Amino acid sequence: MVLDKKKKVVLAYSGGLDTSVAIRWLQEEFNAEVYAVTLDMGQGKELEEVQKKALAVGAKEALVFDVREEFLNQYVLPALWAEAIYEKKYPLATALSRPLIAKYLVKVAQERGATMIAHGCTGKGNDQVRIEVSVSALAPELEVIAPARVWKWSREEEIEYANANGIPVPVTTESPYSIDQNIWGRSIECGVLEDPWVEPPEEVFEWTKDLRDTPDQPTYLEIGFDQGIPKMLGGQYYSLLNLTEELNRIGGEHGFGRVDHVENRLVGIKSREIYECPAALILLEAYRDLENLVTPREVTHFKPYLEERYSQLVYEGLWFSPLRDALDAFMEKIACRVTGVVRVKLYKGNLSVVGRKSDYSLYDFGLATYDKEDMFDHRSSEGFIKLWGLPTRTSAIVYRKK
Ligand code: ARG
Repeated sequence: MVLDKKKKVVLAYSGGLDTSVAIRWLQEEFNAEVYAVTLDMGQGKELEEVQKKALAVGAKEALVFDVREEFLNQYVLPALWAEAIYEKKYPLATALSRPLIAKYLVKVAQERGATMIAHGCTGKGNDQVRIEVSVSALAPELEVIAPARVWKWSREEEIEYANANGIPVPVTTESPYSIDQNIWGRSIECGVLEDPWVEPPEEVFEWTKDLRDTPDQPTYLEIGFDQGIPKMLGGQYYSLLNLTEELNRIGGEHGFGRVDHVENRLVGIKSREIYECPAALILLEAYRDLENLVTPREVTHFKPYLEERYSQLVYEGLWFSPLRDALDAFMEKIACRVTGVVRVKLYKGNLSVVGRKSDYSLYDFGLATYDKEDMFDHRSSEGFIKLWGLPTRTSAIVYRKK
């Protein structure tokens, strides 16, 4: 007797309608056994419910992994050192999570002997690229399928399919927004946000307060870094996880961390996205300030070129690439020096760095001061200016003659 061997497919499962429908669709289309994988990256959602739903819809197994620490240590921290912000606005929360999702999909596929990976991305976004390129970097032999890119259903057709197959469709009028969130930030798009002229309605924000409801007194925070790793808040030791959660909370209290960005997607279109990312923006700002204090001018001036390139490669799905590896080595070399404390002030949606100190500070009071302790040799500037200005002077003399 020939047994009909089932194809094993590992699906990135969020618990939403699309990926629930995908479980059934994959079963029908490929006679597949579906392994649903869900990661806890600090999105603050009850994942037990998600797991139950995957099984109820028909998944063979539903696996949940708590990867919050791994996400922060292996993905967010390198991005912090690289001061990764796409197009000077977006700290890449969603983009950074995709390679880690891919890593777990591959891990489960290898453990279960699956030959196919599936995800719920559409054909228009960046996330399909990030997941698929990451999978191909880690396990080029695996096939990848994106059901939503194949079935091409309208919303109504999808709901019809769900109803016909006993897949629960949320009864409450669903939010018009598409939201993705993890500990590093919250991304919101669709609905009225698709008109870039329309101000984001207050309802899209969940982590950050309306400025009318924020405290009338500022909050001062002292953030301590040890070799690039944020470790202390107000003199107390924190795990990176607790520290990030705390900064999201305090920043959000003060209405800090909102970003409104018309961004350039990898697939060529411009899209408007709203972000809430208080902790990310606080840490990035504090890190930059302290790094500047402890590194010489050449580093301060050169590093931004690499930061921009780094941000771009993360956005464009090239996390698992030799370029990222090499850039990480550069960033880590500098992070080693970033030890010290940064004092920031949060008030009415604003963040200001108001103080910084470090045992490795290159700030020399004797050189900088204008009062009597001044140690700077003013006379040495005369010769310096002559040589520094020599090319300009030479050029001016020649051109005047002509
Ligand atoms: N635009 C962001 C990116 O490409 C976020 C994408 C997901 N956004 C969402 N609201 N589901 O990284």
